[in-house]
Amino acid sequence: MNVKFERLGKFEQEKERNGGENGSADEKEKVEVLTQKYLAQYGGEIETHKRNELSKKGEQKSFVDEYYKVATDFYEYGWGESFHFAVLRKDETWLESMRRHEYYLALRLGLKPGDHVVDLGCGVGGPAMNIARFANCRVTGVTLNQYQVDRAQKIAERRNCADLCHVIRGDFMHTPFSSESIDHVYAIESTCHTVDKVSVFGEAFRILKPGGCFAGYEWVTTSKYDENNEEHVRTRIGIERGNGLPETVPAHVVKDALIKCGFELIDAYDTMENNEVPWWNPFLNNYSLTGLASSRLGRTIFGYIFQVLEFVGVVPKGTHDVHEFLSMGAENLIRGGEMGIYSVGYFFLARKPLRPVNETVKPA
Ligand SMILES: C[S@@+](CC[C@H](N)C(=O)[O-])C[C@H]1O[C@@H](n2cnc3c(N)ncnc32)[C@H](O)[C@@H]1O
Repeated sequence: MNVKFERLGKFEQEKERNGGENGSADEKEKVEVLTQKYLAQYGGEIETHKRNELSKKGEQKSFVDEYYKVATDFYEYGWGESFHFAVLRKDETWLESMRRHEYYLALRLGLKPGDHVVDLGCGVGGPAMNIARFANCRVTGVTLNQYQVDRAQKIAERRNCADLCHVIRGDFMHTPFSSESIDHVYAIESTCHTVDKVSVFGEAFRILKPGGCFAGYEWVTTSKYDENNEEHVRTRIGIERGNGLPETVPAHVVKDALIKCGFELIDAYDTMENNEVPWWNPFLNNYSLTGLASSRLGRTIFGYIFQVLEFVGVVPKGTHDVHEFLSMGAENLIRGGEMGIYSVGYFFLARKPLRPVNETVKPA
C-alpha cells in the first residue's frame, strides 16, 4: 500500500529544515488545533438539530473542511485513493470491487468518449480518474478541501491522466459551471455531508444538459432504523461524528429531493442489502497486508504506534486523536451495518428531462 501522509510528511520536512528540531510551532500546532476544533464543534457534544441547522445554512462547510484537512491522509493510507465503500463479492479482490462500484456508475450514466462529466464531492479524485479512463471522458471533480485538490493533482500526474481529470476547489451547492453545460453528473458518498439535498441536487440539475443523467451513492438510514430506539440513535450519531456528517436522512428523502428538483427518477435501491460479503467487512479483522490498516486489529496497532510517534515528536500532536475518532466512526458503522439500520450505498439514477416537466405535460 502506498503510504503518503503528506500533511504529516510536511512536519518531518520542516524538522529537517530546522536542523533536527521538531517542526515549527505553527506546523506542530496545526493537526492538534484542527482536531480540537473539529472535535469541540462537530465531533463533540453538539446536538444533532444544531448540526442540521448549520448544514441547512451551509455553515457546516467549514467543519467538513476541517474534517478532511485532518482525515484525508488517514483515508488515503487506510483505504486508498477512492474514499467510498463497495459491494464486495467473495471471488474478487478489494480493488476489483471498488473499481466495479465506480464503473457501474459510468455504465448506468451511459458515459461516452468525449463527455464532460462532473464529480460532486470528489475526494482526492480516485473515482474521477478511474471513471475518466474507463469511459474515455473528461471528468471535473469538485471538493471543498484544498488539500484534496493538491493531492488529486499529484495523483493525476503520477497516473498520467491529468489531461482527462481535473479537480477544483468549490462548494457542490454553488459550482462554477454554466447552466446546461455538463453531459452527466455523479456524487459518490459525498452529499451525505449535507441535509439540504434539494440545494445540491438542484445544482446538479442546473448544470446538466437536458437529457443528461445524475447518479450517485448516498449514506442513508434504512427502514429498520427507529428514532425511538436509543441504540439506533447513539449508533447513527457515532457514525456522523466519526465521519463529519450532519444527520443521516432516510432513503425516501433522497428520492423526494430528486423529484422536487425536477429530475425524472429512473432507479433507486440499496446496493448494500443482502450481499455475499457485508459492506462493513473491511473494518473487521483482516489479516491481509492491504486490508490491515482499516481493520480492527490494524486500527488498534496504529493507535499505539501513533501514541509513541506523537510522544517522540515524529508526528504532530493530535494525530492520535484523529485516529481515535475515525476508529470510533468505524466501530459505529460496523454496529449500524450489523443492526441493518444504516446503508452506505443507496444508489440513485435520475435524468433531467429534455424539457421542463411543466412543459412536457400540456393540458388538453
Ligand atoms: C467520503 S468523501 C468521498 C470522496 C469521493 N467521492 C470518493 O468516493 O473518493 C466526501 C467528499 O465530499 C466532499 N464534500 C463534502 N461537502 C462538500 C461540499 N459542500 N462541496 C464540495 N465537496 C464537498 C469532501 O470534501 C470529500 O471530498
